[in-house]
Amino acid sequence: MPQKRDFISIMDWSSEELINNLELALELKKKTREGQCPKELEGRSYGMIFHKDSLRTRVSCEVAIFQLGGHVLTMSEKDFQMGKRESVKDVAKVLSRYLDGILIRTFSHQVVLELAEHAEVPVCNLLTDFNHPCQLMADALTILEKFGRLENIKVCYLGDCNNVTNSWLNLASRIPLDLRIATSKETLPPEHLVKQVQDAGLSKLSIYHEAAEAVQDAQVLYTDVWASMGEKEKIKEREQLLFGFQINRDLLNLSNPDSLVMHCLPANREREITAEVMDGPRSIVYDQAENRLHAQKAILAQLERWRN
Ligand code: CP
Ligand code: NVA
Repeated sequence: MPQKRDFISIMDWSSEELINNLELALELKKKTREGQCPKELEGRSYGMIFHKDSLRTRVSCEVAIFQLGGHVLTMSEKDFQMGKRESVKDVAKVLSRYLDGILIRTFSHQVVLELAEHAEVPVCNLLTDFNHPCQLMADALTILEKFGRLENIKVCYLGDCNNVTNSWLNLASRIPLDLRIATSKETLPPEHLVKQVQDAGLSKLSIYHEAAEAVQDAQVLYTDVWASMGEKEKIKEREQLLFGFQINRDLLNLSNPDSLVMHCLPANREREITAEVMDGPRSIVYDQAENRLHAQKAILAQLERWRN
């Protein structure tokens, strides 16, 4: 009986598995556009649990499962109050008797780990306060398409260090990147993730407190909201700390002349990014959003292949 595999963090998969999965995403994207998406999830049922808002993740996952021939049902906090009405373990055990996979977006990363520990079917992390691995697969896919490679691309992440930044650090532990993080001294990434990148020895990682310095030669400028879901009350404080890290025309002009701008979305125009840049010719935010669909298909197809 093959062991089920999960996708809770980029770190769950090896460098080779991640690269192969990006190749699979490219293949599935091409086949889908030709109207020949393989029905790899035919006869399979998936459950998605959302404890936080979502546009891209929810819709791209539903469509991904549909296009792969599977069935999906979406549940919210009020449906069964995991951890309150019954334990995470019992939810995992019961859902495993009905479903072929569980996808979850919630606050606590620990809860997702607990769910995966007890689930007998694959668990896929659709965002926690700590990580957003599916986003990073779509981002990596987008960079691969735009630059023809991922290795050693100069990526400058600007703004608040959050779940997305943590997943960037995880990616840098698996795939060689020139990753710069430009943030305030108060919003630094967790030390253990920085150390993990250094120990892996694949990527160049630099942390800056001056945006202008960080973007020199950068090929990708990336940002995210300054206050993530669950901490919106921190926005005033973050605006004080992070106003110097906004992606705007002046900053873009200091980067590589061919650099591209990414944002995982949703965005706050005029806060972490100006409308002019976000809607400008070097912004690839909607290609990135589209790739959530193709990357998600590859992740789910791979999790299913490992079960067989
Ligand atoms: N990027 C992203 O995860 O978007 P949603 O929160 O809308 O799913
Ligand atoms: N860091 C953001 C990402 C949203 C997709 C959040 O957690 O709200």
